[in-house]
Amino acid sequence: MTLSQKTGLRETKRRLDRRVLYFSIKGNTLENKPVENCADLVNQDFCFTQEERDALYKTIFNRRDVRGQFKPDAIPDEVLARVLQAAHHAPSVGFMQPWNFIVIRSKETKLRVHQGFVEANEEAAKLFKAERQETYRNLKLEGIKESPINICITCDRNRCGPHVLGRTHIKTTDLYSSVCAVQNLWLAARAEGLGVGWVSIIKQQALKDALNIPDDIVPIAYLCVGYVSHFNKKPDLENAGWRKRLPLEDLVFFDQWNEQRNAEEDSLIKQIELDADFSEQFMQYDENALE
Ligand SMILES: Cc1cc2nc3c(=O)[nH]c(=O)nc-3n(C[C@H](O)[C@H](O)[C@H](O)COP(=O)(O)O)c2cc1C
Repeated sequence: MTLSQKTGLRETKRRLDRRVLYFSIKGNTLENKPVENCADLVNQDFCFTQEERDALYKTIFNRRDVRGQFKPDAIPDEVLARVLQAAHHAPSVGFMQPWNFIVIRSKETKLRVHQGFVEANEEAAKLFKAERQETYRNLKLEGIKESPINICITCDRNRCGPHVLGRTHIKTTDLYSSVCAVQNLWLAARAEGLGVGWVSIIKQQALKDALNIPDDIVPIAYLCVGYVSHFNKKPDLENAGWRKRLPLEDLVFFDQWNEQRNAEEDSLIKQIELDADFSEQFMQYDENALE
């Protein structure tokens, strides 16, 4: 049986299971009482209201990697400052805050970075075979020149000297910290109505040369930022048939690597399957948005 046949069968079974589960859970008021808010469970002083919580989920589920829909409109400094504040409040190992934010407005610099993308993209394209390569070449994978602002987030690995609290045994945690700043920025930008597109198809040295980044500083993310004509509902790569979102239940293990359970065996998996469409209620529909 092929993978897609298997996925199809599993999807049918999941839908049937969900119907059965819905009725059995409806009858069970105690264990499965809906948790609207953390105040239902614990001290409510620090709980967000449902509206506030929903705003966060709305931001998360409506965030997209944007490449092709940038508008030239300027981003007001007050908006950009808020977004950068959000990035700066990311978690970091040992409170190291290893990031810097290079805000790129210069057309010339963007052109240099874009040239770096073109060269790396050509190399990357050749790695895919036949039809896949054709699909790859038709993908829009950056918006460097069209977006009004590009931001490069970096990591200074020496910011706190050789011994950083929490980094002794996993040296790369400083890099992870800068990635947390990227995600904070991405979400805050979405909440501000700004699109962000991450461009990693560029050689590190080419990027460093274009931005005059010293040897000991690591470029973590090159981001294209700007207002957009619309946000697509699904990732561009999904719309292009490149890859689909994997079923969450296949990615959750219990106690040991690769220890999976099905909905009959575990109530968490049951709940994950029940909530498979959780993101849907938060999606902002837009006429231009691709499915
Ligand atoms: C580390 C990283 C590097 C990425 N590099 C690129 C890139 O070079 N070009 C591109 O078009 N998208 C890039 N993306 C965006 C992913 O393709 C995108 O996140 C994924 O397809 C899911 O889509 P979504 O972000 O809209 O949910 C990158 C994302 C991450 C996290």
